[in-house]
Amino acid sequence: MKLAVVGTGYVGLVTAAVLADFGNQVTGVDVDEAKIKILKAGRSPFYEPGLSDLLIRNQKSSRLEFTTDYSQAIPEADVVFICVGTPSDNNGQADLKYVFAASRSLAPYLKDGAVVVIKSTVPPGTHLKVKQIIDDKTKKEYFLASVPEFLREGSAIEDTLHPDRVVIGVDDEQAQKLLLDLHRPINGKRILTDIVSAQLIKYTANAFLASKISFTNEVARLCDAYQADVMKVMEGIGEDKRIGKAFLHPGLGYGGSCFPKDVKAILAFGKQRKIDLNVIKGAHVTNQVQVDYFISKMEAKLSVLKSVKVGVLGLAFKGNTDDIRESRALILIENLIAKGAFIYAYDPMAMDNVKKFYPDLKISYLPNWQAVAKKSEVLVIATDWNEFKELNLEELAEISKIRYIFDGRNILNPDKVKQAGFDYVGVGR
Ligand code: UDX
Repeated sequence: MKLAVVGTGYVGLVTAAVLADFGNQVTGVDVDEAKIKILKAGRSPFYEPGLSDLLIRNQKSSRLEFTTDYSQAIPEADVVFICVGTPSDNNGQADLKYVFAASRSLAPYLKDGAVVVIKSTVPPGTHLKVKQIIDDKTKKEYFLASVPEFLREGSAIEDTLHPDRVVIGVDDEQAQKLLLDLHRPINGKRILTDIVSAQLIKYTANAFLASKISFTNEVARLCDAYQADVMKVMEGIGEDKRIGKAFLHPGLGYGGSCFPKDVKAILAFGKQRKIDLNVIKGAHVTNQVQVDYFISKMEAKLSVLKSVKVGVLGLAFKGNTDDIRESRALILIENLIAKGAFIYAYDPMAMDNVKKFYPDLKISYLPNWQAVAKKSEVLVIATDWNEFKELNLEELAEISKIRYIFDGRNILNPDKVKQAGFDYVGVGR
């Protein structure tokens, strides 16, 4: 099939690369010329394991190309995917300006019978506004659909190839058949539904997962108060299939480009219809104060943070990515700096992004964890990189004067940390 993918962020680029790899002819289009230049040179604009290889392979075999020109990308496409960002606006609502702009730009070039799939996360009903915009610019017959994306950064390709389910929201039978054909090489159960339900599935999934995390973080506080081990408590409940094991890992709270914005958006469009989503609201509130909670645990040990040299391992919002959007590590650092601490930090991938987007943040960047350890009085684990899970504690004891390890991601083994001579402070253990 001939496909066009509008927007070359995480979702768009991974979708384009995977669908090209299945043998489709894919054109990725983006208004960002610098990005398209990078992609044409065979590079990925961000770090995602396996993505570069996929991009190079499919560009070499001419199944995948990139352009800034809609008139080149759209006219032959049987399916056009809209994969542009829907960030939060000042009121917490999903800002749809990029979705509408993309719709406006692609509309004049649509071919008869094309299916326009909205993959961007958009509030229920958005497709009706998209339809108005497209109808203003074309008389051609086309179909709208919603196929939400559930990929996680860091495992985006694997998640796209082997999702638990593929949700196809579309009202036309022929368009549904086309989308089923296109997704045939992808694993996972098919959920066939209408467009609005598909749009809600995406928000509900993210709100539910975010709620699981906040729930876990609340239980962690209870465990701290009663000297229980949250890891065992969550293992104990996770074995119950009705609950499930995933997303019960406590820490500094959830960050990233999806959960925080989608939770705010669902609260906002619930409110528009006067529906109080108290459970989801609670998840949001708990997440907002989780970093404060962790800092209070640090203060309980150190009394004051003023002038303390704090080594921070990890800046990305989670391991295996260079993405720092809504990273709890950065919120932690901002708060520590506000309390007068000095920050020495290392992240395997995300340091350049922090330097670029937060040039005023007073961080001394260091090339590895050992360099951080040598400069610091206490150590904080802020991101769950594998490299930190396997921290060499004997070496740490040898090269540093550190006494406290504050494990904001509960990734170290407390007994081993204590055996190596450190005081261990985790979340709820
Ligand atoms: C998420 C969803 O998982 C994905 O389906 C959706 O398409 C986009 O949003 P992503 O943001 O890439 O994906 O990361 P994810 O692995 O889900 O983690 C989100 C945040 O929650 C991270 O900050 C992570 O550290 C945190 N988290 C996750 C926890 O604190 N505890 C957990 O148990 C799981």
